[in-house]
Amino acid sequence: MSGQKQIYQLVHETQIYLRKTADLLSDPEMRTLARCFADDLEAETSRPPTLSRMRSVDVRGLRYGPMLFDPDSSLCQAIFHAALNAFPYARWSEFYKETPWTESFLSRFATGECIGPTGRFLSDDLILGLFILGPDTYYPAHAHPAEEFYIVIAGEAEFQTGVASSFVAKQQGDVVLHQSNVSHAIRSAAQPMFAIYGWRGEIMAPSWYRDNMADESEPKKFPNLPSANPASQNPRSFGEA
Ligand SMILES: [Fe+2]
Repeated sequence: MSGQKQIYQLVHETQIYLRKTADLLSDPEMRTLARCFADDLEAETSRPPTLSRMRSVDVRGLRYGPMLFDPDSSLCQAIFHAALNAFPYARWSEFYKETPWTESFLSRFATGECIGPTGRFLSDDLILGLFILGPDTYYPAHAHPAEEFYIVIAGEAEFQTGVASSFVAKQQGDVVLHQSNVSHAIRSAAQPMFAIYGWRGEIMAPSWYRDNMADESEPKKFPNLPSANPASQNPRSFGEA
């Protein structure tokens, strides 16, 4: 009942999906990033799994879970079923603490870490998880040293990548890639969104934001994190820096 089979099937299907996506990308940097994620995920499958003792806690955003799985989904692909099967085994949390910065999303948001420093299976090298953003929700602009991907599995949302960029609608099957320390935000409308996400590179370094992400003279701020999150061990995670 550890979920090992389900979680590692998700790793396998995600790396296949990212490799296929990479072949279709015209931007060489994004193509390389997608392939690096696929390589890291493939390497993870060759390591012996270490089951975490951590379990999910109360996560208000999980109430949107039943809205997200459409049996008539057009994405009847292996990755959709892998995400569905891994869902109960992810270590779900709200990730952040209640602060003014998280007010627009925290009660409508859930992250389910499958593999990572606080995941169902432990890794210090990468993070692979599931992500829910409820309807009419704004996950404000932030950035982090780790590189990141999202694969939209169900529902839809708009992603902004880069401070001067417009929000772009992403739907089932779409992949979004974020390079290191590039500002990004997500907002949803009537539909919630369910996605697979991953981090590689400096995964222990905390996320940061500015009130105005375009103003590089403004000191970075670091969201407060619960103590179960390893990034909270970093004193820079508290208050401003
Ligand atoms: Fe991010």
